[in-house]
Amino acid sequence: MSGRAAKAVLVAVALGMGTGAVIARQERASDAVANPARWGGPVARPALDPRIEARVDAILKAMSVEDKVGQIIQADIATVKPADLLTYKLGSVLNGGNSAPGNDELAPPAEWLKLADAFWDASMTRTDGRPRVPVIWGTDAVHGNNNIVGATLFPHNIGLGAARDPALMEEIGRVTAAETAAAGLDWSFAPTLAVVRDDRWGRTYESYSEDPALVASYAGRVVAGLQGPVDAAGFMAPGRVIATAKHFVGDGGTGGKDQGDTRVAEAELRDVHAAGYPPALEAGALTVMASFSGWNGAKMHGNRSVLTGVLKERWGFPGFVVGDWNAHGQLPGCSNESCAAAINAGLDMFMMSGDWKALFANTLAQVRSGEIPAARLDDAVRRILRVKMWAGSFEAGRPSSRPFAGRFDRIGSAEAKALARRAVRESLVLLKNGGGLLPLKAATRVLIAGEAADSIAQQAGGWSISWQGTGVTNAAFPGATSIRRGIEDAVRAGGGTATYAADGGYARKPDVAIVVFGEAPYAEFMGDRPDLEYAPGDKRDLALLRRLKAAGVPTVAVFLSGRPMWVNAELNAADAFVAAFLPGSEGGGVADLLFRTRPDFDFAGRLSFSWPRRPDQFVLNRGDRAYAPLFPFGYGLSYADRRGWTPLDERRPAGMAAAASDAFLVHGRVPEGWSLYLGEEGGGNTRLTGNAGQGASGAIRIVGVDRDAQEDARRVTWAGTRRAEAGITASRPLDLAREANGELSLLVDYRVDERPGGPVFVAMSGVGGAARIDVTRTVRDAVPGRWTTLAVPLRCFAAGGLDLRRVDRPFILSAGARLTLSISGVRVASANAAAAGCGGSAAAEP
Ligand code: BGC
Ligand code: BGC
Repeated sequence: MSGRAAKAVLVAVALGMGTGAVIARQERASDAVANPARWGGPVARPALDPRIEARVDAILKAMSVEDKVGQIIQADIATVKPADLLTYKLGSVLNGGNSAPGNDELAPPAEWLKLADAFWDASMTRTDGRPRVPVIWGTDAVHGNNNIVGATLFPHNIGLGAARDPALMEEIGRVTAAETAAAGLDWSFAPTLAVVRDDRWGRTYESYSEDPALVASYAGRVVAGLQGPVDAAGFMAPGRVIATAKHFVGDGGTGGKDQGDTRVAEAELRDVHAAGYPPALEAGALTVMASFSGWNGAKMHGNRSVLTGVLKERWGFPGFVVGDWNAHGQLPGCSNESCAAAINAGLDMFMMSGDWKALFANTLAQVRSGEIPAARLDDAVRRILRVKMWAGSFEAGRPSSRPFAGRFDRIGSAEAKALARRAVRESLVLLKNGGGLLPLKAATRVLIAGEAADSIAQQAGGWSISWQGTGVTNAAFPGATSIRRGIEDAVRAGGGTATYAADGGYARKPDVAIVVFGEAPYAEFMGDRPDLEYAPGDKRDLALLRRLKAAGVPTVAVFLSGRPMWVNAELNAADAFVAAFLPGSEGGGVADLLFRTRPDFDFAGRLSFSWPRRPDQFVLNRGDRAYAPLFPFGYGLSYADRRGWTPLDERRPAGMAAAASDAFLVHGRVPEGWSLYLGEEGGGNTRLTGNAGQGASGAIRIVGVDRDAQEDARRVTWAGTRRAEAGITASRPLDLAREANGELSLLVDYRVDERPGGPVFVAMSGVGGAARIDVTRTVRDAVPGRWTTLAVPLRCFAAGGLDLRRVDRPFILSAGARLTLSISGVRVASANAAAAGCGGSAAAEP
């Protein structure tokens, strides 16, 4: 028995566990330990340059320990100001998905550059004679420089995967770098090399493919595009930015759960999930981001065998490993403010939003106590300095003085837009072309329908101006082209007429209709789903397709989504069906193919993800033993292909839980098609469209707040001036009778921010009336500032006279006096309060 195993037994005995538990535990632990000898390599470039190494050593020697600790921290600009860098010599800053200069997501590029200058100036200001090390700024330029207004937005990676065009990836990388460098930023957190195996994951669209070989064929090209070719004088030349291969490793294998656990054998971790890394490192990727996820129970940020053993030692990676957003805080024994374990495992730079000064102080103390060995700190700092040398940061000077900085004409340039439009054309996959409907003739009467046709936010998806891609209108995308506009232009040029009606109505029968619809934007965990059914609670798009069919109007469906979805009914109802994924800012590329605006255009996109025949085929991948997709990996028609259509089964398979969810608010958001509203006595109801809003007279207000993540909860404030309510409207009446029989409860995750000044009610309303439950006592007894769960048994609403078979508004919270509370979740589930009375009670779920 090894020393470690012996220790485990001692601990287990002390805890009173049997030997069986010890063995199980050890097996789990060793399942999460990689054997680097099995990982091939070495693969990394560029080779070390003795002159650079000597410079790095000299700088390192002259640095104070505070300087060194500063280098290994990257803070979010929401929580660090330029003046902080006069004192704290941080290695890097980032803008998280929701952070922007002056907290203004719509800040023009000039503001970004100004702020970059301010950070740089402060980082270089010192009078103590110690080395000046420039700060570098990282950003999620994941489909173009997407945080900045006016930038060219390329299709998200899932669509690029369909293009099967590695050379195009290099071009996109180059243009993205140019638009990023123009704003004075140094570093992009891209490419994502996830090989997504379960399409329920909310980040499926960030993955090029379920196929490791396809991801591998792109990885090096994107890196070369961002950083320049590694061998030439072009490497990290002006206008290039540092790339990040992320998220290392196994992010795509978590069973559809964001930040989850990838349970696979080591060979699968290496051959499937890590496939993109060797080519990315060979192309010289200077940074690697550790994954939020775990491998066989152990979070990646603490996995020394992978971060150090495989990546650095075996593969010889000379760059540095950056953490993901506060992910180090998820390691056992760690918090966001303290985590020696991550650094000791091989992390070189923390990514931190929040109290980074506390992280600085704790890390410094850990270095002084030896908990973080001095040699480990030096290694981390050496890597960071080396990357800055390679990137030319020491010579580049102030951001605004660099050759391409301030060239705002390069942001959204004609060249970039033409490239993005080409990428859109290459990414569209034609799934059905009944009767050879496509290409359409432009000289006809065309009806364009669907809200999505006129929403650039929806065609761009998450990571577009805002983190979630929500809360922004077309005005946030100057210079972009909606799918509607693209069609209108093509039809006009071809001598036809196009009319747009979101609801598909028309006065005069059109010759053809184009219906654009699909998923609303989301990012990360907000996009996790229980299965792949498209819009389970809301069949309005399907109804529109059917209405057009019944009227004899030939119809083209253009489907926007971040993943393949179960759309059998929609496929049956449309004559032609195009999977457009998330095309980005250049919607004109869609019209190019629908109307074949040039004779050499044709559909060339081929699925990079297998398309499901059933909603529960979320783990469906090329090479599966029993592979029964609706459309296999690689599928995609061209104009000339003629295939008949056998109607598809539209029924949800028996035995599958109804997807219409029992969760009414998840992470502060309602399900697709549902809405939040604010109502006031005498003032009517106001439907909320963004994250914030208020009632007619301001008696009630709502804003997005953070619980565990950014804006994953809503704070509701009652002014007490009149009775007011916040509620959720379902897209169609819900039948909760079964749930009530099952003794389920309505559960509300909430936090009292200001105690109630009067009575508080939870209500539900439906076709047959409403029932309200007085929950004043429970809410009044809740500890202010602490998250808790309120439970009201469903039977109480029935006892109050509500017909539970037709519930329109499954949650209403009302008060007449002052009150502030935050709510993160509302759902129906079992609770130990089921036996309790109807006054609502504080509940823990069993
Ligand atoms: C994401 C990363 C991203 C980082 C910075 C994290 O939540 O997982 O992909 O680069 O935030 O925004
Ligand atoms: C960051 C994301 C991060 C999220 C955490 C955003 O602002 O950009 O990358 O995952 O906040 O909730």
